[in-house]
Amino acid sequence: MEAAPSQEHGRQHDRRQAGWRPLHDQVLDVSDDDDYNLALDQAGEALSCAGRVVVLSGAGISAESGVPTFREAQTGLWARFSPADLASPEAFAKDPERIWAWYHWRRTLIARGGPNAGHHALAQLAEIKSLQTITQNVDGLHQAAGSRRVAELHGNIWRERCSECDHARLVPMAEAQGDAPVRCRDCGAMMRPAIVWFGEMLPQTALVAADAALAEADCVIVVGTSNQVYPAAALVDTAVAGATPVIEINPQETPVSQHVDHRLAASASRALPDLVARLS
Ligand code: APR
Repeated sequence: MEAAPSQEHGRQHDRRQAGWRPLHDQVLDVSDDDDYNLALDQAGEALSCAGRVVVLSGAGISAESGVPTFREAQTGLWARFSPADLASPEAFAKDPERIWAWYHWRRTLIARGGPNAGHHALAQLAEIKSLQTITQNVDGLHQAAGSRRVAELHGNIWRERCSECDHARLVPMAEAQGDAPVRCRDCGAMMRPAIVWFGEMLPQTALVAADAALAEADCVIVVGTSNQVYPAAALVDTAVAGATPVIEINPQETPVSQHVDHRLAASASRALPDLVARLS
């Protein structure tokens, strides 16, 4: 879900039982450019050998587009609201105007920032390799950069669905204005953002696509996620516990950093273009 760490769906793993491989032999301090370039060479080699690549992305890849994470988004005007006040079916039923105003505000930020060099590098990678992106992000920036195969675990802020009937629609990013609630053209009920809120299930299709892609992957890139929000983090646990090479891109250490095959301690907008450049 977009909103908070989840213990639902029985997908969470106990890391102590997840079959960790031992720490890779050479731990590189990527704080200096020589080390970064060496890590990049090794990661680039692993990626070069791969036919099918899976990307698991989180909020960090959009940070340089100026898109705040869910928690950061509760700043300024919105600071007095808790996540449950802004991202639950109950909150929507109680005050749809407030919820829509918040989502319209977030849409404006996303449209203003647009995709960054990290999103564009992945779209470029998709032209070279068979690429499946699995994202926790709801901002649609992978698709805006040109990525086509994107499984969205937490929904999409640009998609609206009727709270009563089956009607749904995708709002073009260029139309990111207005803050009034929208009514369904078919039944007149309130439309809502097609985002996974507190207490809601993740879309089964995205989970199935993620499992299938990971089972077939030759290389996995984990970028911009803290690997702490389940069930999405369980996909990373699965990748790290398997034999497929895993590349992590994140300036900060995460619970899996010590267990991945290649770690690029840099921003997504630096490391992803650098990595893709190693292929051409
Ligand atoms: N490049 C790469 N990684 C970055 C960058 C960057 N420029 N900036 C920050 N990061 C990393 C941070 O170090 C952190 O590990 O991105 C990670 C973001 O972690 P979270 O905010 O926990 O995001 P995520 O793992 O996606 O899970 C958040 O809450 O915001 C919602 O929808 C989101 O459900 C998801 C959950």
